[in-house]
Amino acid sequence: MQYWEQDVETMPRSGLRRLQTERLNKTLEAAVRTPYYGALLDHNPAFRAQVGDVGDLTSFPFTTKQDLRDHFPYGFLSLPKKEIIRLHSSSGTTGNPTVIYHNRHDIGSWANLMARSLFTAGVRDTDVFQNIVGYGLFTGGLGFQYGIERLGALSIPAGAGNSLRQIRLMRDYETTAIHAIPSYLGRLYEVFKAEGLDPRSDTSLRLLVIGAEPHTEEQRQRIQEMYGVKAYNSFGLSEMNGPGVAFECEFQQGLHIWEDAYVVEIIDPDTLEPVPDGEYGELVMTTLDREANPLIRYRTRDITRIIPGECPCGRTHRRIDRITGRSDDMFIIKGCNIFPMQIEGVLLRVPEVGDDYRITIDTLHDQDEMLVEVEVKREWFRGDLEFLDKLQRRIVHLIRDEVLVTPVVKLVEPGSIPKAEGKAVRVFDKRKK
Ligand code: COA
Ligand code: AMP
Ligand code: ZN
Repeated sequence: MQYWEQDVETMPRSGLRRLQTERLNKTLEAAVRTPYYGALLDHNPAFRAQVGDVGDLTSFPFTTKQDLRDHFPYGFLSLPKKEIIRLHSSSGTTGNPTVIYHNRHDIGSWANLMARSLFTAGVRDTDVFQNIVGYGLFTGGLGFQYGIERLGALSIPAGAGNSLRQIRLMRDYETTAIHAIPSYLGRLYEVFKAEGLDPRSDTSLRLLVIGAEPHTEEQRQRIQEMYGVKAYNSFGLSEMNGPGVAFECEFQQGLHIWEDAYVVEIIDPDTLEPVPDGEYGELVMTTLDREANPLIRYRTRDITRIIPGECPCGRTHRRIDRITGRSDDMFIIKGCNIFPMQIEGVLLRVPEVGDDYRITIDTLHDQDEMLVEVEVKREWFRGDLEFLDKLQRRIVHLIRDEVLVTPVVKLVEPGSIPKAEGKAVRVFDKRKK
């Protein structure tokens, strides 16, 4: 068995717990220096002193995405801006985005976690690794990039989009490993077929890394059949750096979550009480190796469970199961996270838009698409087709600027969208699972 950092990855649980406690105290020291936690810790004096055990953390309040938004832009920053070298932030032009800052240490620590993750999935320095996700503010671009470089493989920073070029790159440089979102790999396969090519025989692929959006075991199996190689699940979220939080090993029986870098809890999202290992709940995480932007008991909203028992690979870091859903209304399409409120915010700014709208997500022509049906006020819903066409295009642009995905927008007559009873359910996800 081979490891990237054998001592850390196979550390006995007691040692890991001591390391966590030591690092938690450092995190708390950093947290005191942030405006948000500084004020909070004034009310929790026990946490201003040294914490005796990482288990004591359960008496600390949770941190939520709303807290990050409310204290935008610097409420969670623990260092002077001079020491910060990068930020990643969520999309959106309406409400406050969420932003995470990194100093040099944090970027180095993240790169190492990514290299460890990739090595765990079987990537080696002899691989040619094509990273087919968005660069820029998306964490999957630079997150993987730094990890691939740290590992020493040859990186191809391909970015998202342009499937023909992706195939050309794969064939020209004999790509052996790819990172992409699972739904895109279905689309890419269709482009292979349309070109008269078969990824199983016409490429040098030997493994895939898939992540950034929910998918089932059946979807994974289909991708593995299409490409004729194994596909390893990669989990992360921007608030915890991005990718490199949890990764599958060769056994593909859950994702090892790196407990030297994070404290992991699973709670019941309604009662907020911890649930026993094996039971599903919401993942809550605390950073242990981040200096610029410590986060304590962050509610990820992702639903998963701890898989009880040990992994045959010998790594002692516990495994989480694949993410089965969320405890909020966020959905992911084409690798972009969307809150229905963002769409609503855009529509509210358009005076011609009426009372109701409906979002339907479906798989059309091998790609996930978002259909937004929008009621137009009666006074505007006349026979002026040119006007309606312009309005439709304006709404497409506004939504795309907000969520980064181009929607299909259909303008409809007022009253034609059935009224939902009680709390309006406006999102219908019809994607094949
Ligand atoms: N990854 C890679 N390529 C993607 C993709 C994805 N998630 N989703 C769509 N594409 C491709 C499409 O196949 C198309 O290329 P092709 O016609 O040559 O096959 C091209 O991107 C444009 O797609 P389209 O659906 O017309 O564009 P859009 O305006 O709705 O979306 C994207 C634009 C794809 C650029 C935007 O959704 C994006 O940046 N997604 C990537 C997000 C990402 O990487 N997230 C993970 C971070 S860890
Ligand atoms: P972002 O902050 O943009 O990186 O998005 C993070 C979110 O994407 C997570 O909170 C999950 O909801 C989702 N996500 C990331 N990786 C996976 C994965 N492997 N499986 C399911 N969902 C994932
Ligand atoms: Zn394992």
